[in-house]
Amino acid sequence: MRHSNTRLEHGPGERRSVQAFAPGRVNLIGEHTDYNDGLCLPFAVERGVTVTAEPVAGTTIEAHAKDLGESASVEPGAESTSAEGWRRFVHGAVAELRSAGVEPQPCRLAIESDLPRGAGLSSSAALCVALSLALCAVAEAEPPERVELARLCSRVENDWTGAQTGLLDPLASLCGERGHAVRIDMRGPLLESVPLDLAGHALAVLDSGATHDLSADSGYNERRDECRAACRALGIDSLRDATSAEGLPQPLDRRVRHVIAENGRVDGAVAALEAGDLAELGRLLDASHRSLRDDYEVSVPEVERAVETCLRAGALGARIMGGGFGGSVLALFPPGAQLPPEAVTVEPGPPARLL
Ligand code: GLA
Repeated sequence: MRHSNTRLEHGPGERRSVQAFAPGRVNLIGEHTDYNDGLCLPFAVERGVTVTAEPVAGTTIEAHAKDLGESASVEPGAESTSAEGWRRFVHGAVAELRSAGVEPQPCRLAIESDLPRGAGLSSSAALCVALSLALCAVAEAEPPERVELARLCSRVENDWTGAQTGLLDPLASLCGERGHAVRIDMRGPLLESVPLDLAGHALAVLDSGATHDLSADSGYNERRDECRAACRALGIDSLRDATSAEGLPQPLDRRVRHVIAENGRVDGAVAALEAGDLAELGRLLDASHRSLRDDYEVSVPEVERAVETCLRAGALGARIMGGGFGGSVLALFPPGAQLPPEAVTVEPGPPARLL
């Protein structure tokens, strides 16, 4: 097996403590396209989740979420899907790594984050990536390569937490690059670096205050079901192959219209960045928001207010970001603009790594 670590010959005292960091992400544009084999344009941010792993004797993996003051403990081989909340990520990461041929070793994990949870900056994927990298490192095992690791993290979310999220978030965390966004064509996936030269403009996120929830019975999973239903009605395997929404019943026609147009906007944004046309980038953000609000129907009043706040402060464009039903708004501000007090500027940073 490619990633397997041979059983350690030395005791826990001789294994080293390790620290892994995984960034959150901002998705510039290309929303609800990842699970439709489409295009997106995310970048990793500077903030994220840090997991410190200290080897211990025995058989147990203990995890402590410092920010929450909560703990979990997992026996490799006896992971449970009935664990509560964030603990499911620990159980899932241990189980999925074992299936991938890595034998997680007994250790004490300390989890810290400077990402707001539920704000649409992908704290869940960052947690999963950081846990996986730390567990591999403390086991002295080579982690799976980044696309494979992103798939593994996606399985943890899908099968262990019930959120049917796609590859956007873990891939963005694992493939970030300072000063660049990454155009991801999920058909592959194929990744291409896109320089993010904003010519003095600023990208900022503003938390709407409405916490989003992507879990099993969420609107997010309902949208995924609708996309599957639209595929069946159109006789195609993926909405990437849809060319028109005509003839579909409501609301499937609106969902498909969004996905087709949003894929086009990703390449529009890449072209606008290449041409240094930031006004056009702003228009594309606005168009993406209208489509997510009216056709994909994932906005909520708090998000609409946050978009308004950004536009009133002079943003060239603003849109809901991530899974929707709450979370953060992303806005593009021209040079010299006075950002809303709660807005946080975001810049593309490096990918997940061992510290
Ligand atoms: C969430 C999911 C991603 C993606 C976005 C919407 O962030 O985790 O996989 O589907 O929503 O673009």
